[in-house]
Amino acid sequence: EKEKTLAIIKPDGILGNYSDKIKNIITGYGFSITREMRIQLDEDAVRSFYAEHSSKSFFLSLVKYMTSGPILVMILEKDNAVADWRKLIGPTDAEKAKVTHPQSIRAMCGFNMERNCVHGSDSTQSASREISFFFDVQDTRHDEL
Ligand code: CMP
Repeated sequence: EKEKTLAIIKPDGILGNYSDKIKNIITGYGFSITREMRIQLDEDAVRSFYAEHSSKSFFLSLVKYMTSGPILVMILEKDNAVADWRKLIGPTDAEKAKVTHPQSIRAMCGFNMERNCVHGSDSTQSASREISFFFDVQDTRHDEL
């Protein structure tokens, strides 16, 4: 069963010039990139996208980080896309990932718990919320009809 997930290359990934490398890894693992958009988020957009973290101690810092430069947002599609993309990016803490998951994308381009270079939806429910946050819902629905 084909599934969609949302992937983001965060400001540190764009700045470090990892976009093409990451996209090659994505397609090499059999995902199709069905939509993509390069954008600069403002504070309100980040606060709303990461609303579930609004009470966390790192929230302000996360808002600062995610507004620090452009990001690349992509819809990835394949069987089991949500879990497979999470597996490919590795653990949230990129510093730990370098030790425990050296082949992961976060090990390759992230720095630490916050500056972890990429995002992936954590469930199919999150994926559909996050996809409609960035992309026209009409368009994504169309693929399923
Ligand atoms: P992401 O998977 O996009 O989801 C929430 C983001 O918040 C996470 O990646 C990190 O960038 C950041 N984050 C999560 N936990 C922490 C933490 N303990 N300290 C700082 N930043 C964090």
